[in-house]
Amino acid sequence: MTSSELWTRATADRYDAEEGERSSAAVLGPTLDFLADLAGDGRALEFAIGTGRVGVPLRERGVPVVGIELSEHMAAVLRRKIDEDRLPVTIGDMATTVVPGRFTLVYLVYNTITNLLTQDEQVECFRNAARHLAPGGRFVIELGVPPLRFLPPGQIAVPFDVSERHLGFDTFDLVEQILVSHHFTRDAEDGRYRRGASRHRYAWPAELDLMARIAGLERERRVADWDGTPFTEDSAQHISVWRKPA
Ligand SMILES: C[S@@+](CC[C@H](N)C(=O)[O-])C[C@H]1O[C@@H](n2cnc3c(N)ncnc32)[C@H](O)[C@@H]1O
Repeated sequence: MTSSELWTRATADRYDAEEGERSSAAVLGPTLDFLADLAGDGRALEFAIGTGRVGVPLRERGVPVVGIELSEHMAAVLRRKIDEDRLPVTIGDMATTVVPGRFTLVYLVYNTITNLLTQDEQVECFRNAARHLAPGGRFVIELGVPPLRFLPPGQIAVPFDVSERHLGFDTFDLVEQILVSHHFTRDAEDGRYRRGASRHRYAWPAELDLMARIAGLERERRVADWDGTPFTEDSAQHISVWRKPA
């Protein structure tokens, strides 16, 4: 039983249009280069593959990709793009679901480790990645740094997007390490705003390193983006790579 919220059909149907920028060549190009390089001649497993924003083009580059995804609705959108033989997807929880074979790369992008709402489940997710890796294989996570430097005492929310189409802000439970992202998204046709919210368990880079260590993985690299920009105290996100000892 997972703590993750289930992504609905309505969310799945909107996802690709709303994530158009993240699916652009400018964003995906460096992402795919980074992942394809780590996969080498082996196979890749994407945890929480969603509609295949990353997995489908990675497969099209020649990397054999397999996915695990909790939401049948998200997987159904992926299935409209590519058939089961070319990209198999198992419906299940990325913290516990086991698929056949060993992989040179397991990856979990777009902040999705935070969809597991407890520390125990996040540790299990690292363990599950390690379980699927061949010796010498890598686990990659893309994750935002918790934006707590923008939350002085007395302030209740941190805005992360104020644009024509979308207003977004985060609120925090600092004791339980839970962040709620609130979204007001303007409908292109009728101009009305749709409200949505999602819960996340945020985690610091050092906490992830400890989870990796518990899972028997060693940190190999941490950069600020897919282009390999050095990670600093001002970085808003990180791409982290842990390796299973050979
Ligand atoms: C932000 S989307 C990312 C989808 C895709 N990886 C991408 O980059 O576009 C988050 C995805 O995680 C899935 N998800 C959430 N919790 C999950 C879990 N415990 N196990 C597997 N998938 C999960 C959701 O259903 C959704 O498809």
